[in-house]
Amino acid sequence: MLNWDEYNSEETKTANQQTQQVEAVEVKKEVEIKLTEEPKTETTEATIGGSRSEKAKASLDNLDVAAGIEELEGFSGRVQVDQKAMINCKADLNQLVPFKYDWAWQKYLDGSANHWMPQEINMTSDIALWKSEDGLTEDERTIVKRSLGFFSTADSLVANNLVLAVYRLITNPECRQYLLRQSLEEAIHTHAYQYCIESLGMDEGEIFNMYREIPCVAKKASWGLKYTKEISDPTFETGTEETDKQLLKNLIAFYCVLEGIFFYCGFTQILSMGRRNKMTGTSEQFQYILRDESMHVNFGIDVINQIKIENPHLWDDKMQAEAAQMILEGTELEIQYARDTMPRGVLGMNASMMEEYLKFIANRRLTQIGLEEEFQGVTNPFPWMSEIMDLRKEKNFFETRVIEYQTGGALNW
Ligand SMILES: [Fe+2]
Ligand SMILES: [Fe+2]
Repeated sequence: MLNWDEYNSEETKTANQQTQQVEAVEVKKEVEIKLTEEPKTETTEATIGGSRSEKAKASLDNLDVAAGIEELEGFSGRVQVDQKAMINCKADLNQLVPFKYDWAWQKYLDGSANHWMPQEINMTSDIALWKSEDGLTEDERTIVKRSLGFFSTADSLVANNLVLAVYRLITNPECRQYLLRQSLEEAIHTHAYQYCIESLGMDEGEIFNMYREIPCVAKKASWGLKYTKEISDPTFETGTEETDKQLLKNLIAFYCVLEGIFFYCGFTQILSMGRRNKMTGTSEQFQYILRDESMHVNFGIDVINQIKIENPHLWDDKMQAEAAQMILEGTELEIQYARDTMPRGVLGMNASMMEEYLKFIANRRLTQIGLEEEFQGVTNPFPWMSEIMDLRKEKNFFETRVIEYQTGGALNW
């Protein structure tokens, strides 16, 4: 806080400033004389004592456009479609069109049309149920806490991986446009979990620290973090076979495993709760998040496959074996999480049903990136999950919301 002594010294400062201003006017006069003599004076000299606007204008008069453009990433004149590439591209990344990766642009449009915010969902009945003595069983309460514990930090891990590691290394503007959209969605997801935690009056310290303190949650988080660490070093560059493969592994870790497997046990548990009319607000939040997540996974798989098409040498036997190993490690960690969160049957499901479901998902992730299935004869014990994720079927459910947002975009002033 400012005290009187400082106030006095402020006054002295003002007096000093006035003296300086008088001096400045004199200097300005001197400079004006110089300017008439030498019109090509350097910026600094020409603007000494000038007003801030004059200095700004003088600085712009000397702006070297060519030097600025050289600074632009990969500038090489107007962009041609066939110059564009998923990684290691040398064409200007500031020009969105001409489009080459229409699928990425389409996903950006679809994601934007599905915009939603956590506060729009009514949490009243969840609050009453969570606070009532006999509303939920102990096992059900554990599931709610573990899910919020894992997801409240997992979506931040994903967002940080996107903006601190992946974004810079994906070298085409269509995919970057979707990555920006996805980053916003991850922020909204973190917001949604925080909103649930706050609404239910949970112990925030307990929930937000689960990713460090509860082993089955911590293992999943640290498994993902090691892949961020590898490529988030600002000096890391792709362009060699080894570093290109490191980026590919990061994409597999995050899109196929973290978002593609690690989210599935918790999502299934919470959505199953909602289907039984319990924690319907939390469940609705998760339903919106799952819809976003299934698009994130689809985008990531398209990115991985496109990189493979453009760089077939990266997808050698060793890389394929490593990719399969990563997906299977992730599946095993998620099975452990299922056993830990469901020591007994709960909500019409149990750990072995979840294990079968996770093996079913793992087979899907493997085949989506061109690898062979691992688990023979497994089926989906939760077909209703696929229905929730199926965007075409979901359209009716979300129709009103989409229309609402689209009319918002055409406001009449
Ligand atoms: Fe997310
Ligand atoms: Fe995501």
